[in-house]
Amino acid sequence: MELMEVIKKRRSVRKYLEKPVPEDIIHNLLEAGRLAPSGGNSQNHFFGVVREECQKGKLGRAAGNQMWIKTAPVIIAYCAYIGYDLAEVPEDDFALIVNKTRFGDDLVQYLNNYQDRKAVNTFWNNSSPLIPGEHIFLAAISYGLNACWIGYLDIKKASKILNLPDDVVCLYLMPLGYAAKEPEKKARKTLEELTFYDQWRGEIDD
Ligand SMILES: Cc1cc2nc3c(=O)[nH]c(=O)nc-3n(C[C@H](O)[C@H](O)[C@H](O)COP(=O)(O)O)c2cc1C
Repeated sequence: MELMEVIKKRRSVRKYLEKPVPEDIIHNLLEAGRLAPSGGNSQNHFFGVVREECQKGKLGRAAGNQMWIKTAPVIIAYCAYIGYDLAEVPEDDFALIVNKTRFGDDLVQYLNNYQDRKAVNTFWNNSSPLIPGEHIFLAAISYGLNACWIGYLDIKKASKILNLPDDVVCLYLMPLGYAAKEPEKKARKTLEELTFYDQWRGEIDD
């Protein structure tokens, strides 16, 4: 399938057939995730492959009781390493410099002084699995599978269910499988609403 065809076909599916996903396809999906880019090539994401019924049920409860995720034969648990603490690195640390440039010294200072280090480092790493996950989502579509992002999740509970070490957290889930029915098409804003050229909806001042 052409990439644009895959992108246009992608939908969030919330009910799946009782049909297993072949191992070689799961392997290829994970490979698509592995090849994703990451800031500074940090690759601080992990992929949990969850197929056990009891685990799926527990994760559904941790996901605000979204129990439909149990209908998926596979749930990918998107995790991230959170052991890199900006409060403990030297002033010339590249990640520290980048984040101060992006968000301002004051916010970084505030977060570095915040007592709950696990919460702060979870927050910093929130986006880590998103690009790998979308690689996996689009690869799944190309194999005739479907999926759904799950961000409504109790991160602490999910991480405990998966028995993750203290410096790894589960940030998102993605049920994966064959759609039980054709998913509805959600509306999108127009390109005009979303796009600007050179400067926000105006002329460039000389
Ligand atoms: C980061 C992220 C988190 C999401 N979390 C949930 C979720 O917890 N539960 C859910 O049913 N859908 C979730 N979604 C799916 C969105 O509702 C869905 O992508 C959106 O409504 C557009 O529909 P479409 O994916 O079919 O185009 C999430 C999507 C993203 C990108």
